[in-house]
Amino acid sequence: MTDDELPTPCFLISESALLANLACMERLRREAGVRMLLALKCFSCWGAFPVLAPYLDGTTSSGPYEARLGRETLGKETHAYSVDYADRDIPWINACADKAIFNSLGQLARYRAMLKPAISVGLRINPGVSYARQDLADPARRHSRLGVPWEQLRQDAPDADLRRLGVDGAMLHMNCENADIHAYADMLDLVSRRLGHVLDRLSWLSLGGGVAFTAPGYPVDSLARLLREFGRRHRLVLYMEPGEAVVTRSTDLIVTVLDIVRNGMDIAVVDSATEAHRLDTLVYREPATIRQASAGGAHAYQIAASSCLAGDVFCTARFDAPLQVGQRLHVQDSGGYTMVKLNWFNGLRMPAVYFRHRDGRLTLLNRFGYADFKRAMSLHAIACDGQAEAQLQLELPIE
Ligand SMILES: Cc1ncc(COP(=O)(O)O)c(C=O)c1O
Repeated sequence: MTDDELPTPCFLISESALLANLACMERLRREAGVRMLLALKCFSCWGAFPVLAPYLDGTTSSGPYEARLGRETLGKETHAYSVDYADRDIPWINACADKAIFNSLGQLARYRAMLKPAISVGLRINPGVSYARQDLADPARRHSRLGVPWEQLRQDAPDADLRRLGVDGAMLHMNCENADIHAYADMLDLVSRRLGHVLDRLSWLSLGGGVAFTAPGYPVDSLARLLREFGRRHRLVLYMEPGEAVVTRSTDLIVTVLDIVRNGMDIAVVDSATEAHRLDTLVYREPATIRQASAGGAHAYQIAASSCLAGDVFCTARFDAPLQVGQRLHVQDSGGYTMVKLNWFNGLRMPAVYFRHRDGRLTLLNRFGYADFKRAMSLHAIACDGQAEAQLQLELPIE
């Protein structure tokens, strides 16, 4: 099947594009001696994991389901972090995790003793420095709840010895799409100055995600040198938790133009919505890019969603020729933080997920139908007066 024959909306993951990112990550992993954990919050499409597995040391998670998914599907080193564990999460962590990372000293005190002895324990520390373009995604924002603030450690663990609390390692996540190696180097220096005395007593450190080391032209060798020196300085086994850097530029959301309307400009309405299928476009107000667009094109369109939300727009783009109803558009870079955030708003058709192998073969990884939508809304109707309502079952295609 060619790309043009795929039913839309759908995600199309390219193995070749993934492998280009993975080759870059492998260089960093080898040269820096850093262990690489896929951040499942960004990309949990486990059907594609066999391609990623040789390049990964494991997975990291943000909740119990991700921890279990990582253990069950990739099966390598499994880190379990959560902003707040509940009692019922602990059996999951014991069953799934090699390392458990607590977000606060309170959570550490509450749950440390309930973990299996084989699990190595870490603490998320907030170093009070970050690189993030938006406050919403800034882990060091004012009143951030993400990690123990570094100054607080001075009061609560004045001897800087987290080992006494049963902690072997730490996690610092402080970047968001950071392609600036100088900014990163400055941050690592500051971390050394603020937290070096704490880190020196630990055995491992995860530096989180958010470093755009697969961006075109990124100086991977310099980053490797920087990380190697940092690891040596504090005698730490280092981890990184990339998400976006692994899947960036690998996946298109393919949509079809269903209508073209005019209101001050031409508006192409497509069979998808940012609110349902590409939520971060809306949340972060970062316009998508369309593969078929051309910067100098004579024909400008707003590429708009089929949802009812007035501001649900993918982007404005220019094209060399007028768009036509029925034409397909590829919304680029739609692999990270998309499939993990899909929702059923407006009862729109959910995009299927396809994987294009290097040799051109195509594998369907996921598809959804009306039954999935209905099940997501309720298991069954309430019985009124002891009588279950008979339900209308229409004879329609399942998709
Ligand atoms: C703790 C942690 N690790 C890793 C990541 C992955 O970041 P990215 O996908 O930007 O690499 C995130 C993203 O929010 C995170 O919060």
